Amino acid sequence: MLVTVDDVLTPAELQQVRSQLANAPWAEHQSAGPQAMLAKHNLQIPEGSEVLKGLRLTVMRALNRSPKLMSAALPNKIVPPNFNRYTADHDRYGWHTDSTLRYLPDGSCLRTDVSATLFLSDPAAYEGGELVIEDTYGEHKVKLAAGSLVLYPAGAIHQVTPVTQGERLACYLFMQSVVKDTGCRSHLYEMDQALMALRQKHGEEQAEVIRLTGLYNNLLRRWSEC
Ligand code: NI
Repeated sequence: MLVTVDDVLTPAELQQVRSQLANAPWAEHQSAGPQAMLAKHNLQIPEGSEVLKGLRLTVMRALNRSPKLMSAALPNKIVPPNFNRYTADHDRYGWHTDSTLRYLPDGSCLRTDVSATLFLSDPAAYEGGELVIEDTYGEHKVKLAAGSLVLYPAGAIHQVTPVTQGERLACYLFMQSVVKDTGCRSHLYEMDQALMALRQKHGEEQAEVIRLTGLYNNLLRRWSEC
């Protein structure tokens, strides 16, 4: 299940993030497993950089305000977001899968269930640089407006195609969901979206809306782990 969330960042936040990224230190060969490292040809802000604190705070705050993101990902824990840069010299991230286990700064462990890419450059500002995600229905090319985000299952094979012109800035992050199974999470998301539409149409107090909301919650109870 691929879900896009538009305007995760406000124009003011986007501007602030971009100006922080313009002065950020960038480095090669950051945070990837041995196999993914062979495919990774981009630049990333190294862990421990002072500028990461403010950038992460801005993104995390924005994620928390998005009901659509919460409904689709049902996050339990989130790995602190990272920021990358693709240019003609560091142009691609070939086919790879993301590591299943990530360690948080406090030493605790997180299972990646959902991956997210937040696009930070205007799509007209670069050529190429599409995020291509493979699922059972084939390959999907994603290139979103600056400030918008895509969520996809962390187990999906994916790549970023070569940037042939301009600069592609993005933020990526991983989440452990309270619902581990991708199929179950997808059912819950679709049900939740349909319920929101039903509430709009018939009101919160309609008998069937109340019953279906109860069913959603009971499925969530059955499938979730906190
Ligand atoms: Ni990846």
